[in-house]
Amino acid sequence: MERPEGIVDFTPDKNLFPFESRWFDSSVGPVHYIDEGDGAVVLLMHGNPDWSFLYREIITALGPDVRCIAPDYPGFGLSVHPDGYGYMPAEHADVVLELVEHLDLNDVVVMGQDWGGPIGLDIASRVPDRIRGLVMANTWFWPADDRTMKVFSKLMGSRPVQALIMKRNFFVTVVMKRSLQTKVSPDVFAHYTEVLPTPESRRGAAVFPIAITAARPWLTELEKRVAQTLRGKPAALVFGKKDFALGSDATVARWRREFPEASVVEIPDAGHFIQEDNPEACVTAIREILSLPAET
Ligand code: BEZ
Repeated sequence: MERPEGIVDFTPDKNLFPFESRWFDSSVGPVHYIDEGDGAVVLLMHGNPDWSFLYREIITALGPDVRCIAPDYPGFGLSVHPDGYGYMPAEHADVVLELVEHLDLNDVVVMGQDWGGPIGLDIASRVPDRIRGLVMANTWFWPADDRTMKVFSKLMGSRPVQALIMKRNFFVTVVMKRSLQTKVSPDVFAHYTEVLPTPESRRGAAVFPIAITAARPWLTELEKRVAQTLRGKPAALVFGKKDFALGSDATVARWRREFPEASVVEIPDAGHFIQEDNPEACVTAIREILSLPAET
């Protein structure tokens, strides 16, 4: 599909993002994705407030022998911002599952960070026969009972902060900027700010933190389904420890309980946006899962 109507007027720098943009005609409109390389399939799931751009270094490092699929959820990156869409994680998962089925992806390694974890695991647990293994980084998939997560959700969901997110792009310019442990260049950072140019374009970024508590019923169901369908899959965990929300010892311990066989790498000087802070660790984890037998 050519660049469709209604997509944000932003063109990524070819030097930073040297990939072909593709659009899938989903049930809610055109969904942008990258499909680079040929070989074992890796599905790269982003979180808030970013898009497939976050995975650029990982896609490049994995090289032409790995097929990297990196979608942008509706309301993010170069995807449609659909009318009447709620921007909740369950809706994003439905849309990306449509893409997985459309491309008929099999033997897939799913990597997810931030909301990419629960969204990726929702998809994986609905089509476990298509899934080879998991790489989970600075994420979670259970109802958020942790005080920090609840306070964050409440604060970000408050009227004044919602107004800042919508009017001033606060989630990118303040929350993301301060969470990055690596100094990214202004050109790189512009790919996060400029892809959300108007207040209305930031709705998805505003809804995600509210969903930490509002999506509790979905997360409750997801927690059970993941245990039933994915526990035996090869898994690698990568956690930047300088992540106020998801880098605690308690979060990593919880993951170890959920996936006792998983390899675990904890990186003291990386933070929430591990794909920017330490893409090499993500590449190593993906390669580790790709080198393991498909089922344990
Ligand atoms: C968010 O919705 O933006 C978010 C979720 C989990 C941790 C940090 C941020």
